[in-house]
Amino acid sequence: MRVYRDRDANLDWLKNKTIAVIGYGSQGAAQALCFRDSGLDVVVAARKNGPSWRRARTDGFEPAELGEAARRGDVVCMLISDTSQPEVYYRFVHPHMTPGKTLYFSHGFNITYEFIKPPRSVDVVMVAPHGPGRQLRELYLAGKGLPALLAVHRDASGHAKRTALALAKACGFTRSGVFEAPFNHETFADLFSEQAVLCGGVSELVKSAYETLVEAGIEPELAWFCCLYELKLTVDLIHHEGIEGMWSAVSETARYGGRTRGPRAIDTASKAELRRILKEIMSGEFGRELAQEYRRRMPLLRRAKREGVRHGIERTGRQIRRYFDI
Ligand SMILES: NC(=O)c1ccc[n+]([C@@H]2O[C@H](COP(=O)([O-])OP(=O)(O)OC[C@H]3O[C@@H](n4cnc5c(N)ncnc54)[C@H](OP(=O)(O)O)[C@@H]3O)[C@@H](O)[C@H]2O)c1
Ligand SMILES: [Mg+2]
Repeated sequence: MRVYRDRDANLDWLKNKTIAVIGYGSQGAAQALCFRDSGLDVVVAARKNGPSWRRARTDGFEPAELGEAARRGDVVCMLISDTSQPEVYYRFVHPHMTPGKTLYFSHGFNITYEFIKPPRSVDVVMVAPHGPGRQLRELYLAGKGLPALLAVHRDASGHAKRTALALAKACGFTRSGVFEAPFNHETFADLFSEQAVLCGGVSELVKSAYETLVEAGIEPELAWFCCLYELKLTVDLIHHEGIEGMWSAVSETARYGGRTRGPRAIDTASKAELRRILKEIMSGEFGRELAQEYRRRMPLLRRAKREGVRHGIERTGRQIRRYFDI
């Protein structure tokens, strides 16, 4: 694997170019601030007088309206939520995607599933950070960086990768390391990991384990501390030292119990289901389902949230946070 570092990228390449950042949420704000601190000419775009517009002003930007920023940008960064990108792109950005410009993403979703089809005359690149915007910004300010993935979907100019590397450097990613993969692989791996592990898998595992203890008569507070609160310690260990590093740091009892019972909690049936989940992602079925949910204004997501906040584990958590200094 080729890893790109600071010496492989040149910020001068973006001198005299304007970087339009569409959206000022988690990634938009973090990347716009880093671009600016790296000396680039940045114009932030947001909905007039919306929350992002006001936040950008507080941070010292003079925000522009979406179409105006897309017109001015040599590089146009699509940093609004994936579901709203297609309508914003076709309404405000597409008319300004003239030859020689670069369209930039931080996730491959809309290119992979062809919800956005940019003209053949523009470069299409992605720099996808391996972490949220806040962490990106904190590491940048500390002189470090998040690792990130770089992808080139279309190299119309012959310089697409150079542009993407310079943008990655401006966010601090090349301080840590940047590697390359195709757009669709980023999309598949990112969606699958958030569904199976990071967000979906881990929350269901924690909830099921909590329910199992409480149903057996264990105090909800005890179940909460054991199954939810302590998870961070394990995750930190795995993050820094790998799974084997975690095993050597826990007690022998935990090691024996975990090594023998873990494969029963996540068994061959779960593995088969993981494969089905990945298949839905790779076939585009999940992407179409999400687009339809968005068109209906997210009824399923809103219902899940209503049910989620009422779940015992959340009520217990709220109570514990009132009594404990944690
Ligand atoms: N969040 C992460 O940690 C993360 C990590 C890696 C990659 N990414 C990728 O980065 C991209 C941006 O994600 P994000 O999480 O940063 O987004 P986000 O925080 O959800 O973005 C919200 C921004 O989108 C704007 N927006 C939403 N709908 C809009 C519309 N119809 N018209 C105009 N503006 C609209 C919001 O403006 P208002 O304030 O006006 O509503 C706000 O500025 C996505 O492709 C995502 O997959 C995110
Ligand atoms: Mg994602």
